[in-house]
Amino acid sequence: MWDTQGVGRLNGLPTLKTEGARLLQIFLKKYLSVKISKLERYKQIGEFPNLVEPFVRDLQNTPANLCGKWNSSFFKRDAELVLEMGCGWGDFSVGMARNFPERNFLGLDVKGARIWRGAKTSFEEGLKNLGFLRIEGEFVERLFAPGELSEIWITFPTPYLRKPEKMLVSPTFLSRYRRLLSKNGVLHLKTDVELLGNYVFNIWPHCGFELLNSKSEYLETFQHPIPEVHTNFEARAVGLQKRIWHIKAAPTSGNVASVPDEVARCPWKKSNTNSNK
Ligand SMILES: C[S@@+](CC[C@H](N)C(=O)[O-])C[C@H]1O[C@@H](n2cnc3c(N)ncnc32)[C@H](O)[C@@H]1O
Repeated sequence: MWDTQGVGRLNGLPTLKTEGARLLQIFLKKYLSVKISKLERYKQIGEFPNLVEPFVRDLQNTPANLCGKWNSSFFKRDAELVLEMGCGWGDFSVGMARNFPERNFLGLDVKGARIWRGAKTSFEEGLKNLGFLRIEGEFVERLFAPGELSEIWITFPTPYLRKPEKMLVSPTFLSRYRRLLSKNGVLHLKTDVELLGNYVFNIWPHCGFELLNSKSEYLETFQHPIPEVHTNFEARAVGLQKRIWHIKAAPTSGNVASVPDEVARCPWKKSNTNSNK
């Protein structure tokens, strides 16, 4: 696939006649355009006013400057605050911000070259209710105050089949989300990975969350009610006619006991252990 960013710089190359030279030119154009594009993206993300990139070393012991103040200091208006974890290219956050101008949205991802896409689109469209955060999700509790978030969306998370504890849907992340969601807050997961859907369905009720719809309802949900709000991964899954799971859950009150081992253990982790024997 051609990446149009940076291709313009190469348009001045003379057209070459021999097959070998032509292939070399195609290779150089493709290789250089991707390289230049990534470098430019990294440079540009530091300049977008709608993208925040906190220094991890500043967050080790202290919360981010905007913690508890996203509405008042960043969006400069009071509204429901919605966070998308692992937003990738930002398609979902951009789509939601367009469709729900009355809410404030933040897309978080660690990959700068991806999040650049969402920040650029949002900046060019002048979406004032959308911002992006480039950082590892592990720092989410340093970024938001308890109860600051109305909704958290985890859209098509990487399953990390060999390291399930790293997953954005794992019990460790769930305990963080539980603290950050408001009293009536809702946690959403969308995935096309059946193994992951089943894992979440079993484990979330043990992590202080009440499931809000039945398993058959999740399985009947093939796409988001607003068709244009598809993430990059979702569009692929829909194209392949894969079933989409949309699981909604609400934090329960009271203390949460630790997740029983037999529930916490992932089927895929067991097979990983076996394969290492
Ligand atoms: C499979 S992609 C899905 C992207 C997007 N949500 C979509 O549906 O098109 C998962 C995304 O989660 C991000 N991600 C995974 N673990 C993360 C973490 N711990 N912190 C921040 N981002 C993470 C990855 O960088 C990647 O962009």
